[in-house]
This record gives sequence, structure tokens and C-alpha cells, in this order.
Amino acid sequence: MFRKENVVIAPAEGKLGVLVPGIGAVTTTFIAGVEAVKRGIAQPFGSLTQLATIRLGKRTDNRTPLVRDFVPLAGLDDLVVGGWDIFQDNAYEAALNAQVLDKTLLERVKEPLEAIQPMKGVFYPEYVKRLHGTWVKDGGSKMDQAEMLMDDIRNFKASTGAARLVMIWCGSTEIFHEAASVHASLESFEEGLAKSDPAIAPSQVYAYAALKSGVPFANGAPNLTTDVPALLEMARERQLPICGKDFKTGQTMMKTILAPGLKARMLGVHGWFSTNILGNRDGEVLDDPESFKTKEVTKLSVLDQILQPQLYPMLYKDLFHVVRINYYPPRGDAKEGWDNIDIFGWLGYPMQIKIDFLCRDSILAAPIVLDLVLFLDLAQRAGMKGIQEWLSFYFKAPMTAPGLYPEHDIFIQLMKLKNTLRWMRGEDLITHLGLEYYD
Ligand SMILES: NC(=O)c1ccc[n+]([C@@H]2O[C@H](COP(=O)([O-])OP(=O)(O)OC[C@H]3O[C@@H](n4cnc5c(N)ncnc54)[C@H](O)[C@@H]3O)[C@@H](O)[C@H]2O)c1
Repeated sequence: MFRKENVVIAPAEGKLGVLVPGIGAVTTTFIAGVEAVKRGIAQPFGSLTQLATIRLGKRTDNRTPLVRDFVPLAGLDDLVVGGWDIFQDNAYEAALNAQVLDKTLLERVKEPLEAIQPMKGVFYPEYVKRLHGTWVKDGGSKMDQAEMLMDDIRNFKASTGAARLVMIWCGSTEIFHEAASVHASLESFEEGLAKSDPAIAPSQVYAYAALKSGVPFANGAPNLTTDVPALLEMARERQLPICGKDFKTGQTMMKTILAPGLKARMLGVHGWFSTNILGNRDGEVLDDPESFKTKEVTKLSVLDQILQPQLYPMLYKDLFHVVRINYYPPRGDAKEGWDNIDIFGWLGYPMQIKIDFLCRDSILAAPIVLDLVLFLDLAQRAGMKGIQEWLSFYFKAPMTAPGLYPEHDIFIQLMKLKNTLRWMRGEDLITHLGLEYYD
């Protein structure tokens, strides 16, 4: 039996303010969806916090409450959303441009969407080369800009009356860059901000402003952002939960569903070729090789960890893994992802699997945003700080403690998430051993 913890969770009283850098396709689909659900126009399919149950105790106990009845989560009526963008469009206009949701639905939630006017973003064009932002904070050092963001956060809190805040990055994918000496400690990072060190990305200025303001931070893009010693140190010191990176949707979600099954049956994989066409702004940004590199790294890492070629060289050592994203405007947000998987079984006989996933990126991402917002707020009220590995379920490249490899298998991730909720509420963890039924 596992030791039960007695975690004290503060109640979810008052409004929860959700601050989002990047009011694009994902964010507007999230906001419009929450408003539609609140009005009873649609259902929150894809959201674990809204729909999933959790088994407690033995299979014979018949205790399976809804997750949202088991742990105290903020309700949808308590959410207030605000954010920043580098274009001035309000959330209604941005939703129209994104062309994810149909106009009839958008008309019905037009009022709350129109009310969300983005605040001016912090933007350095060298980090997202395909965009030319016109609604940006100008002048001053990167530290001055962080302070402007902190003013925005304070004003948002005061004007909405939010009791608590969380921030979730839904801005464009920044170019690939690695931690530099400026990221090594909080001291060097703050010096770097004051000197506008070029190695500090816009998303890191937002993350710094959030943490400095006592706001938990989630990263929906593959950017480096909080994955540097300075910001990890800051999150721990300030007792703030953080998580990332890169929402697990589409092709990578399918990969982390399928690969654990192939490995479980000891079937080998010679090659896995993945290609996509998509035509939204995200696709345009990813058409730049430097932004794509950031995405490619997170997409490629998944199979290696799940299949463990170092443990199973005969099955996976020579796996040839390719990931391509092709910008193809006619498709908009309605992406198509193809996978060709060359596998082999008994005596080495080859077989093939083909997947053609006609998915909708933002439809898959929006419920992830909702769940992360609610769980991050829960983590904060439960006094959990630093990297929240139990939220790996939602990410392509889960953040982990330095030196620890991430868990990519979606089923292990789900078990980890649910066991964390059980642990928070002092329930027995479920090991699936099951011997007790046969005593
Ligand atoms: N849609 C998915 O399924 C999915 C999955 C995983 C990750 N993501 C990531 O989520 C992010 C958002 O995706 P999207 O489809 O909504 O893209 P999008 O291009 O529609 O929206 C991104 C928005 O961020 C804004 N932006 C860029 N830099 C900014 C900055 N410094 N400050 C404020 N705003 C800024 C852009 O102007 C744009 O409006 C992307 O990084 C994407 O790679 C999306």
C-alpha cells in the first residue's frame, strides 16, 4: 500500500484569470469553446477535466466520480481571459481570421470574444521570422518590457477582480535556441534583461514577468522558454508550478498512442515517415526552417523514448524517423497528417501501417488549454511548485527534472496524472496489481 499524503488544497474561490500571450487560432478556439459550453450550445469533448471520471479504491467499490467533482477545480463561469498579441485584432476578429470555427457559432459568442482586446506584445522579429508584428511594446530594455508586462498583469487582475491567475503561452513557435550563459542563473538572467541580451527570447520575458508576479506558467509551444536554470530556479523559489512544452495534438498524439502498443507486443519498427500539410498561421511560421527546427526536435524525441532502442536494439536500433511539415494555405487549420510505418514481426516478416489523420489542430488543442489552465491553478492551490511532470499527458516534449528522461507513453502519462489526483486527495494509488481480488 502506498503512503497517503494529506495535501491541503485551498478552495477554488473567486475568478480565475487566464493570461495568454498569443491570441491566435488555439486561443480563440479555446475562448469561443468555453463560451459555447457555458451557453449550452456545445459540449466540451476532448477535455478530461470536464468529462473524465476517476476510479477510486477497488474495482468492486464502484466509486468513479467525475474528475471535476473529485478535486476542487475552477468552474467555467469563473474563468476570465485576457492576453497579448502582436496584431491588434480582438479575439472575435482573430477567430474569424483563423477560420477554425464556423461563423454561425462565432456569431453566438461574438460579444465576449469582441470584448477581449489584446494588450501590446513583447516581440523580437529575429525569434519569429515570418511575422511582422505591428502591435508591440517599443522602447526600453528587455527588463523595462518585462516590467510593462507586470503592469499589464496587475491591471488585468484589478480590472477583472480575478482572485488568482495563470499564464499559458499560445504564441507562435520561436526559433530553435539553446540555453546560454545568460540563462544559467536568475542573477545572470536579470542582468541579461537589463542589458537586452539577444539570447533572451520574447517568451522568456513573458515567463519572467509571470513568475515575478506570482503567476504559474504553462508553455504550449516547443520554445525553450522556462526550460533554463534561471527560470526553473525562480519557479521553485517562488513556489510556483510550471509545465510544458508543446501541446500534444495530431500526429504526435497518434504516435504516442500507437508506439507503446507496438512495443508492448515486441514488434519491430524499421521506419516511421510522418508528413503533414497545414495552412494556418502556425503553418506559415513553421515554414521558416529555424522555427521548424524547434518543432522537429520535440516531434522526433517521442519515438526514441517510447521504443528504447538502447534496450531493444534488434527491434528499434535502425529505425529511420522523418517528420515533415508542409505549409499549404488551402487547407487552413484543417490539417492532414500521413504516417507510413514499416514494422516487422515474427521471423522478421515486414508489414506496413498507414495513417491518414484529417484532424483539426485547434479543435484538438483547445481542450488541452482548458485542462492545463484548471490543473495548473489546482497545483498552485495545492502548494505544488516547479515542474509539474504529472501534466506530461498534454505535451509533446514534457519538461522533467534535469537528468530525468521524459515519459511519452500516453497511457503511463494518464496513470501518472490520475494517481497524482488520488495522491492529492489521500486516496490509494492504483497499481493494477489486482491480487487482492483473488485472496
Ligand atoms: N494547434 C495545435 O494543435 C498546436 C499543437 C501544439 C503546439 N501548438 C503551438 O501553439 C502555438 C499557437 O498555435 P496557433 O495555431 O494558435 O498559432 P497562431 O499563429 O494562430 O497564433 C499564434 C499567435 O501568437 C501571436 N504571437 C507571436 N509572437 C507573439 C509574442 N511575442 N507576443 C504575443 N503574441 C505573439 C501571433 O501573432 C498569433 O496571433 C504555436 O506555437 C503552435 O506551434 C499548437
